[in-house]
Amino acid sequence: MIDLHCHALPGVDDGPAQQAGALALLRAAAAGGTRTVVATPHVSPRYRTSPETIDAGVAGMRAALAAERVELELLGGAEVAMELALELPDAVLRQLTLGDSSCLLLESPLAPAVGPVFERCVAELQQRGYRILLAHPERAPAFLSRPQRLQALVEGGALCSITASSLDGRFGAAARWYALELLRDGLVHSVDSDAHDAIGRPPGLTAGLTAAAETLPPLRERAAWLTTGAPAALLADAPLPG
Ligand SMILES: [Fe+2]
Repeated sequence: MIDLHCHALPGVDDGPAQQAGALALLRAAAAGGTRTVVATPHVSPRYRTSPETIDAGVAGMRAALAAERVELELLGGAEVAMELALELPDAVLRQLTLGDSSCLLLESPLAPAVGPVFERCVAELQQRGYRILLAHPERAPAFLSRPQRLQALVEGGALCSITASSLDGRFGAAARWYALELLRDGLVHSVDSDAHDAIGRPPGLTAGLTAAAETLPPLRERAAWLTTGAPAALLADAPLPG
């Protein structure tokens, strides 16, 4: 499996503070069947993480994984907030995409009253050549209250990454319900962990999907597409598989 959204670098954002914690997170990801993790630290007004910091963090964790013989591919990326996506020059933003792809993980707005500036941001980024993957739209109050906004973004080419643990209720009943609705409507293109540590917000991808399949049995067939097939296509800048 491939995890496109994971706060796996130590001392960079609100993920693990130390390398030992980051290693425990990545070890848990590998033990749960994840083979590729994209480290996606926040790039936001609060955490203005630079591409150089991300590169150094990825290199450090790759060395630690090799030393500990943890079989896991670690790639660099970021979870970019709208404010920074609009502010950063292209030369910087290009370095914040997932792996070597043109796919940018854009944080869904957490402010309930976010206006059309978010849609304008997505459109501008798409015009600049980025493939937009929206992080955890099921947790965005603006989309929960007006789902047609998210539907229109997807019709315009944006893709959706939901958080695996939204499916087992970790973020509340509303996020769980909305995540299931998005899956039912075919509006989800990747299921990712948004892990921040090994235990509190852990990296597993399958528990949530297994729980969701109880209410949505077709998910059993779709799980591999959501956790491997589609994310692999995003990293390769390829069309999504059927
Ligand atoms: Fe995140």
